[in-house]
Amino acid sequence: MSEAKIDNKGITGILESYDYEPSALLAVLQDLQEKYGCLTLEMMRFLADAMEIHVPDIYAAASFYRMFRFEPRGKHSITFCTGTTCHVNHCHSVLSALKKDLRLNGRDTTKDGQFTLEEVHCLGLCHMGPVMKVDNEYHGRLGPGDALKAIAKLKKKRPKAAVKKREKKAAKEVAKKVAKKAAKKVAKKPGKKSAKKGAKRGA
Ligand code: FES
Repeated sequence: MSEAKIDNKGITGILESYDYEPSALLAVLQDLQEKYGCLTLEMMRFLADAMEIHVPDIYAAASFYRMFRFEPRGKHSITFCTGTTCHVNHCHSVLSALKKDLRLNGRDTTKDGQFTLEEVHCLGLCHMGPVMKVDNEYHGRLGPGDALKAIAKLKKKRPKAAVKKREKKAAKEVAKKVAKKAAKKVAKKPGKKSAKKGAKRGA
């Protein structure tokens, strides 16, 4: 479970809107998830104190429903249909390829926080099964290769952005060094001149 920092004001605001009523626990959890992206242990401890409910009871209630998340979502979301029509059209071979490629190992979000993979029972495009939605784009009649290609496109974008960031940082550092050298030179010059003048005067 994520241990991300929470802001107490935000949580208190949500609790106040439900009058700290223990029977409103699910509604409070829904609002918290909407505001912060996922539920954390820190949040549950806060709720436990404020609503006088034990932390394990809060966790049991939240984990009963699939809608609650305990880890932040990845940058890109992949919604994959495992409904009946997609199942008949061999969606599971596509799903296995995706999970393997993303190295999910039982998690739903990749370790680098780039992708979150969720399974749903229908995306409403059964005639195009197997179907998945990547961010806001639908991909249908998928084979394992098509699915990996769609993901590879997003993976390719990452290094470019990272390289650009690195290049910017390097350019800034070079500019800093040049400015430092120039400043040193300027600082040294008057000293040399005065030394020469002093020598001349002495002669
Ligand atoms: S069953 Fe997969 S889109 Fe409907």
